Amino acid sequence: MCGIIGYTGNGNGADIVLDGLFRLEYRGYDSAGVAAFCRGKIKTVKSVGRVENTARKIRDLRDFAPSCLIGHTRWATHGAPCDINAHPHTFGAVTLVHNGIVENCDELKRELEDTSFISATDTEIFAAYLNSKYSGDGVSALRCAMEKISGSSAFCALFSDNEGVIFAAKRGAPLMIGIADGGMLVASDITALLPYTKRYITLEDGDVAAVSKKGAVIYDSSGSIVLRNVKTADFNAEDAEKCGFEHFMLKEINEEGEALRRAFAGRVCDGAACFERDGIPDSFLAEIERVYIVACGTAYHAGKLGKYYAAGLAKIPVFSETASEFRYGAPLISRGDLVVVISQSGETADSVAALKMSKELGAKTLAVVNVVGSSIARIADTVLYMNAGPEISVASTKAYTVQAALMVSLAARLAYAKGKIGLDRLRKITGELVNDLPREIESIVSRRGEIKKAADQLRCAESAFYIGRGADFFIAEEGSLKLKEISYIHSEAYPAGELKHGAIALVSDKTPVIAISTSSCLFEKTMSNVIEAESRGGRIVLICGKGFPCEERNWTRFELLGEHEIIAPILAATACQLLAYEAAVARGCDIDKPRNLAKSVTVE
Ligand code: M6R
Repeated sequence: MCGIIGYTGNGNGADIVLDGLFRLEYRGYDSAGVAAFCRGKIKTVKSVGRVENTARKIRDLRDFAPSCLIGHTRWATHGAPCDINAHPHTFGAVTLVHNGIVENCDELKRELEDTSFISATDTEIFAAYLNSKYSGDGVSALRCAMEKISGSSAFCALFSDNEGVIFAAKRGAPLMIGIADGGMLVASDITALLPYTKRYITLEDGDVAAVSKKGAVIYDSSGSIVLRNVKTADFNAEDAEKCGFEHFMLKEINEEGEALRRAFAGRVCDGAACFERDGIPDSFLAEIERVYIVACGTAYHAGKLGKYYAAGLAKIPVFSETASEFRYGAPLISRGDLVVVISQSGETADSVAALKMSKELGAKTLAVVNVVGSSIARIADTVLYMNAGPEISVASTKAYTVQAALMVSLAARLAYAKGKIGLDRLRKITGELVNDLPREIESIVSRRGEIKKAADQLRCAESAFYIGRGADFFIAEEGSLKLKEISYIHSEAYPAGELKHGAIALVSDKTPVIAISTSSCLFEKTMSNVIEAESRGGRIVLICGKGFPCEERNWTRFELLGEHEIIAPILAATACQLLAYEAAVARGCDIDKPRNLAKSVTVE
């Protein structure tokens, strides 16, 4: 959503904060800004657009060698992206940056009565409200203001008469404190801390902290001083860098094989996927009556694939729901039910809300999450960490692959625990996921040249269709999302047999139709639908199983290698990721930071 970074220490922090902004830019890139104590006064520089625009102005601050600064990258919620709405915002003694939404900002504004504002942001209103509560004690003022507001938010504030101290507060949105040599940092995300320290503290909801170069004093929601655990990050700064790749997205697709190996490390016993060490024993799975899988965007698509296999293998009712709609469908959740929330970031507000509701309704909850210690990981009863490593590109790729593989393996273990499949079948599925999938994905990635040629069919298109049957339909949905997200080509996904019921009216000789067909049983039927689209002029790109009979057709074809019952759809998803990537590169798009988006969506 937005990225927050703060530094207070012994040295000139201008470059540390600027570097942090570049590292957090994937969280939002509508504007950026920095505020710093400069010889006793707070100075602010900010600019609409990318961090590099602010970087050009930062010399004004650097010359003062500031040692206490806060910075921000913005994904606009209240108020258009422009200089005036860029953070930091100042009101009276307060200068602050904000990630989230103050949902009741109109109420705050009414309470402040005569105050006039220069921006259209909820953040400036909050700054004014905080200023109205401030009489020299930043912690008390921030605690009081945090109690007043609704919505998810994290803040870093400077008070003009308290040089050297950053006041931090959070509820809902993430915020962590880094402990470095010679200084302290505050950031939305660990990637901004890693070049300076691996030691960090995750703030809890309701915490308010006063951070100075000597350390941090943290107050919990009751106002008592608390000691929070100091954790050590288990990855390095390079893991969150491009390392020679042109884009993070390409790097992350290349990392899929390794990410899968990490995800399954320690989760295979006697040749079979096993989650006992994660706190998910067979005795727990055996008792589950129904499963709800809830997530957003790409994670939702991984959930749909999980649902397909869980229902098919375990033969129990399984529902997949998009988190933002989950609560409105009045789900009939009861105590025998398991709610699985999937999220790369672990901070997606819609998913957090769905998880909280599920807990209130008495369901057992399981989070499949990548970011360690994130909100969803902390709220759920049990966590299955993805261990995929940092994912920086806004378009999710390696996270999807790991989510999909973990969901399929969990579905198979559920089926085994319920006595619906035997050990041999569980071992076979595990073997495909753990041994074949990483290797085959790496082979797909090495065939980038072929996919680049296929992407020629898409580069000039205005609109495209993705079609598939069975599990391939869920891959079609994910492929379609990836294409529109980074290439801005309008795209829709349809069950292959459904296209003829209306949407085929849009197919012309300018329309690429990307057909996914990985199951030999469904191939013939899918081909009928592909031919229907071709007959209307559709330009066919076929992603299919090895040796599927259609050589005589003059289609662009990408064959998956090997014969695989379970993993073939996931392999097709990687091919779709590369296809979207190459199409977007050919169109000159901003791959890692597509317009209007942000990596982590912490507002509902
Ligand atoms: O962090 P999460 O997995 O909860 O994020 C969910 C979606 O916002 C995310 O998958 C989004 O759809 C991606 N940008 C798609 O590539």
